Amino acid sequence: MNDLMQFLQQRNSSPRLVDPAPTAAELEEIFRAALRAPDHAWLRPWRFITIAGDRRRDFGLVLERGLCQRNPQANEAALQKARNSPLRAPLLVVVVARLSDHPKVPAIEQRLSAGCAAQAILLAAEACGYAGIWRTGDGAFDRNVMTDLGLGANEEIIAFLYLGTRDGSSKALPSLNTADFVSSW
Ligand SMILES: Cc1cc2nc3c(=O)[nH]c(=O)nc-3n(C[C@H](O)[C@H](O)[C@H](O)COP(=O)(O)O)c2cc1C
Repeated sequence: MNDLMQFLQQRNSSPRLVDPAPTAAELEEIFRAALRAPDHAWLRPWRFITIAGDRRRDFGLVLERGLCQRNPQANEAALQKARNSPLRAPLLVVVVARLSDHPKVPAIEQRLSAGCAAQAILLAAEACGYAGIWRTGDGAFDRNVMTDLGLGANEEIIAFLYLGTRDGSSKALPSLNTADFVSSW
């Protein structure tokens, strides 16, 4: 098996991420990989927002405010968890789907294309020697959070990608049988 196949078969997420994050030059390469996501009619139905450094704290306040609005009874522990969540990695990339009306490309295909872009970012970051994890949570579906991030009415959050350097070794991967998922028809 060649190295690329081995790499693809062993990709895995890391919930614990520390400095360093990809450099600006590496991020440029990583985003170039995202721009090769499969994309019906070349609509480019995605864009990416980076959040790093102290902006992660500002984003934490956005998530906390969103939680407060969704659930005014949320307790301090929950608010603190929301507030601190962006600090779990040195860099966040918000993957945004930009939905437009198209006679042949329904919204689901545009969302899937954005999801492919998110996966490409994870793979490219790992190829550069970093690690990441795709997270969502209720904040990802909260229109107030989207507005605070500058999203328009036609835009949605597909992923909060947390990127950085893996803290510790990678976990043992489950051994799955392709036969359980693949059949011929
Ligand atoms: C759309 C989507 C949303 C996800 N949201 C979360 C999340 O909010 N929190 C979380 O811990 N994992 C979330 N995950 C799962 C992780 O990204 C990861 O895939 C999972 O921990 C399994 O690890 P692995 O990718 O190494 O197999 C999400 C995955 C997807 C595809």
